[in-house]
Amino acid sequence: MLLSILRDGLEAPSSCNQQHWHFVLVTDDRQKARAAELAGGNPHFQDCAALIYLCFQKGWTHDNFSVVQGVAAAAYHMMLSAHLRGLGAIWNAGIGDRSGVRDMLQLPEIFELQGALAIGHARSEDIGRKPPRRPLESVVSFDTFERPEETIYPAVPSKTYRFDAMSKADNPYAVWDPQRWSWAQLADYRAWSVWAKSPLPGVYTSRRQGQGTQKELDLIPDLRPGAKVAELMPWGGTSTVALANRLPADVSLSVVELHRNHFDFIADRCRREGVGRPIDYALMVEGRLPFDDHSIDLLVVPQTLEHMADPQAVLADAARVLKPSGRLVVSARNLTSRYGAEWARVEAKGQVPLQGPFTPLRPRRLLDLVNARFEIEALHGIGRTGSGDADVLTEGSMRFRRRVIALRARPR
Ligand SMILES: Cc1cc2nc3c(=O)[nH]c(=O)nc-3n(C[C@H](O)[C@H](O)[C@H](O)COP(=O)(O)O)c2cc1C
Repeated sequence: MLLSILRDGLEAPSSCNQQHWHFVLVTDDRQKARAAELAGGNPHFQDCAALIYLCFQKGWTHDNFSVVQGVAAAAYHMMLSAHLRGLGAIWNAGIGDRSGVRDMLQLPEIFELQGALAIGHARSEDIGRKPPRRPLESVVSFDTFERPEETIYPAVPSKTYRFDAMSKADNPYAVWDPQRWSWAQLADYRAWSVWAKSPLPGVYTSRRQGQGTQKELDLIPDLRPGAKVAELMPWGGTSTVALANRLPADVSLSVVELHRNHFDFIADRCRREGVGRPIDYALMVEGRLPFDDHSIDLLVVPQTLEHMADPQAVLADAARVLKPSGRLVVSARNLTSRYGAEWARVEAKGQVPLQGPFTPLRPRRLLDLVNARFEIEALHGIGRTGSGDADVLTEGSMRFRRRVIALRARPR
């Protein structure tokens, strides 16, 4: 069957019919395990029945990446063929360590790797829902270019934008400061991608965060029965699962996001990770919280202040919606930490992440933002190193050098 699928792939169009493609079929379990290890974040490389590495020969080319376009056409032919034969297929650009894959396949330098198809029987617990698609009118125009404003994202001003000058690790046009984006642009950008939102447990654990989330949640105060808790902008819901598991059963939880698309993902994920409690979902438009005045007992802002177009306005609104007895629990990545230095030196040179642009905050800025409307009760510094550890400091100035600063505050 695999050979038939490959044969169907070869019927695809290619530039001048050159067919400069090559496909390496991998079915050996040990080699698939190695492929998954090299890929880093695609566990289906190991679980699938077969991997087909998509390669092309270099040396002949037409413009406009025509050789690459031809391989892509063949890959999609194979996906359709697999589908018609009752199998599932995932297209992956995320093959990970390219030179490792090259060694594993003994691929000569004159061939390039473009991706891999993972083919196999779909899991029986597959949710069977396609990720949402952008509305037709937002991506199609007639005769000339036209597109809604919020779907065009900020870029560093430049006369031309050279595609070949951009990579994931190095994008000279990326704008990391969310305050240079509008709320509508942030909402649109964050709304569609599925990486790290996958409802398969284990796909989305943050390596940077490690056990840090649990330490942030240690700041949650005692809550009376019936208390209302809200979480702000958790994107794929990593923090929602942890928060939902920490809260007493007799309080309610609302998740606030910028776009509806998050709600299904987070709900699926919570279900799969065994969160039994009901969760409400609500939209935040233009930075305004969707709650009545003085109605919320606890507002959790899990490393998302640094993702906001106007954090000052959101904290002012937080003071409006919190009860006088309510509490704010905020955490933020710290620019003046080893992580912050690494962010500035390496991460911020690349493409902004799928969960949107962010800029770690200086402690002074975080304190100014919070102190404007709140009185800080406790402040912890979490994480000695740039990634992973969750060592906590609760006193002293060294707290302000930790990877994450987490605090609890009450309205003034
Ligand atoms: C060029 C390309 C690269 C992709 N890379 C990956 C990948 O590395 N890992 C993965 O799980 N999915 C990958 N995908 C699959 C997309 O996430 C998927 O097509 C998208 O979320 C839409 O879902 P659907 O195809 O089920 O409709 C890739 C798809 C394309 C076309």
